[in-house]
Amino acid sequence: MIQMSLTSILKNVLFVTLLLNIPWEAQCANIQHGSGGRYAASNDSDSDAVVARRIIRDTNWLSIATISTHEGIEGYPFVSLKSFSDGPNDNGTGIPYLYMTDQDISALDLLQNNNVSIMASLAELSDGCADYDPQDPRCSKVMITGKYIKIESSSDEFSFGKEALFAKHPQMEYWPDDHGFYVAKIEIQEILLLNNYGGLKTVSVEDYFSPSVTRIVNAEH
Ligand SMILES: *[C@@H]1O[C@H](CO)[C@@H](O)[C@H](O)[C@H]1NC(C)=O
Ligand SMILES: *[C@@H]1O[C@H](CO)[C@@H](O)[C@H](O)[C@H]1NC(C)=O
Ligand SMILES: *[C@@H]1O[C@H](CO)[C@@H](O)[C@H](O)[C@H]1NC(C)=O
Repeated sequence: MIQMSLTSILKNVLFVTLLLNIPWEAQCANIQHGSGGRYAASNDSDSDAVVARRIIRDTNWLSIATISTHEGIEGYPFVSLKSFSDGPNDNGTGIPYLYMTDQDISALDLLQNNNVSIMASLAELSDGCADYDPQDPRCSKVMITGKYIKIESSSDEFSFGKEALFAKHPQMEYWPDDHGFYVAKIEIQEILLLNNYGGLKTVSVEDYFSPSVTRIVNAEH
């Protein structure tokens, strides 16, 4: 009986701290620190920037949030799913490239207001968060906020982005010609990482683009 009520008290503490985004460690010093996702699990010394980069490198799709312009829900937050890539195979840049068309509901929002947030999580990968619930803080996820930028079709970056996208998503090559697909990217302003107990971490844009590992190649773009 006593044990059960202690358990439920602990659960409530955990729930409240989750909601308030307060570090869990203070209250739960005895909970063994798991590490987020398969990468942090394979290397606890990885920096937050490296973990953020790995999530963006290894996931295939993201959630994209816009301010809706859709009739009936104007002004509401709107979320959708997009395939993305940050570089050719084994050569990530950290920049999320998207293959978009202005017929798309999210793109229509972004034409009016290019403020955007994206989220990617190792929960996408079959072995990414094997032992964790997707909402568990140890199941790594990164939230990036910035500007949605269409890339000029005559630029080198357009070719680079397209190659990056097609390498990861070979079916894109067969998407309809008459839909006006183009390459876009997220110009990053803020990076928030959830990778373990302890609440969200802010990863500086500078650290994100110069992670101290050789396993992530920084391609020129
Ligand atoms: C973990 O990270 C350290 C420091 O970056 C690196 O030297 C080591 O090789 C990594 N270990 C694994 C298993 O990737
Ligand atoms: C985008 O966000 C910025 C704040 O960073 C704000 O000043 C600006 O008004 C927003 N743009 C639109 C079109 O709402
Ligand atoms: C990564 O891309 C750069 C050019 O952007 C290229 O020089 C380099 O060889 C590439 N590395 C790999 C491992 O593909």
